[in-house]
Amino acid sequence: MRDPYRILGDLRAGRALEGADLEAVARGAAAGTWSDAQLGAFLMGAAIRGLDAERTRALTLAMLDSGERWELSREQPRLADKHSTGGVGDKVSIVLAPLLAACDVPVVMLTGRGLGHTGGTADKLESIPGLRQELDRATAARLLAETGIALGLATAGVAPADRKLYALRDRTATVDSLPLIVASILSKKLASGAAAIAFDVKCGDGAFLSDPALSRELAAQLVEVARALGTPASALITDMSQPLGDWSGHAAEVREALDCLEGGGAEETVALTLALAAELGGLLGVDLGAARCRAALGSGRARERFVRWAVAQGASAAWFERPELPLAPVERVLVAPRAGVLERVATRQLGLLLGEAGGARRSVGADLDRGIALRYRARLGRRLESGEELARVYLRRADADLEARFAACFAIGEEGSAPPLVAGRVPA
Ligand code: URA
Repeated sequence: MRDPYRILGDLRAGRALEGADLEAVARGAAAGTWSDAQLGAFLMGAAIRGLDAERTRALTLAMLDSGERWELSREQPRLADKHSTGGVGDKVSIVLAPLLAACDVPVVMLTGRGLGHTGGTADKLESIPGLRQELDRATAARLLAETGIALGLATAGVAPADRKLYALRDRTATVDSLPLIVASILSKKLASGAAAIAFDVKCGDGAFLSDPALSRELAAQLVEVARALGTPASALITDMSQPLGDWSGHAAEVREALDCLEGGGAEETVALTLALAAELGGLLGVDLGAARCRAALGSGRARERFVRWAVAQGASAAWFERPELPLAPVERVLVAPRAGVLERVATRQLGLLLGEAGGARRSVGADLDRGIALRYRARLGRRLESGEELARVYLRRADADLEARFAACFAIGEEGSAPPLVAGRVPA
């Protein structure tokens, strides 16, 4: 294997790296044999020069092979997975996983903590008392056999190269490099070994990448690399120019997800869940059409699966009889300052403000306030009277400045239209 100096020299000069060079980077990151300076130089070189499709694939494979590969589809041949690039109010995983299990499609989803303006599924699920979320291979396999659902945080053995590189990307201004994003996401996703993956790549103001062209490119690369590495995949490009569904905030999103699992909930949340289920149905050759999925939600079978999974992970069945998911006590109603059409929502800013109010961690390992929430009442393109409710926020304490900044996230104009929930698909 070539030494870091030579690999970095070639990257700097624009000479193509070999697969073995990318393996050296991933091994060096995982084993600590490459220094932070060398890894930072690699990240900057890759971000500036870019990596072509072949090298993106090689880096992904090298990062994947830096850790455990669970190969769970050996025991569960129809094992499904879904990945979302994250957004405000995105609680789809919490609905989709039990819905699939209720339709006899086992599902693995290695979830994450909150990132930037978006909340993490693991943080949301911690609103359920007693729930354990650490997953190793044996736990995931047992949960799949008993409940059809393995949802949780992967142990440190999965993609250790990504753990190291991801932390350095944050400090080296290389977070938004497409090949680095693709390798990062897939090195973790492919580790569990699902038989098919549906990607939900968000676009619009509240998306991780707000430029729609970049969202499309990310979707295309995720699908291409996943397929090239042997996992059937497709992607939906979905709207994040406004919060998804009615509620954003940890405990509130769990409540909305439970409502969806009982056949209620916000229509957008259900519609996106069903669209992603249909993708997985197509990839796996199973009927996961709207009629079957709505029946699983309406009959209570999906909720029953969720409870079975949560109880297997330490939650109490009694809690689900009257789930307590309290909102923060200070409720403020945000209203339209004049008549008109809701033209724009500063969705990323809404996510950041929820975090600033206490809904995000201030430092790694710190706790967060799960009662902080936003209830989104209006929708883009809707005509509103002056004084009509746009949204409500739930805060721990009154804060006039914060409330004014929440209100400033909604722009009323004359035109405005409702964006489609699904803006595109890969393959088209
Ligand atoms: N999520 C990841 O896991 N990695 C990235 O690089 C971006 C989002």
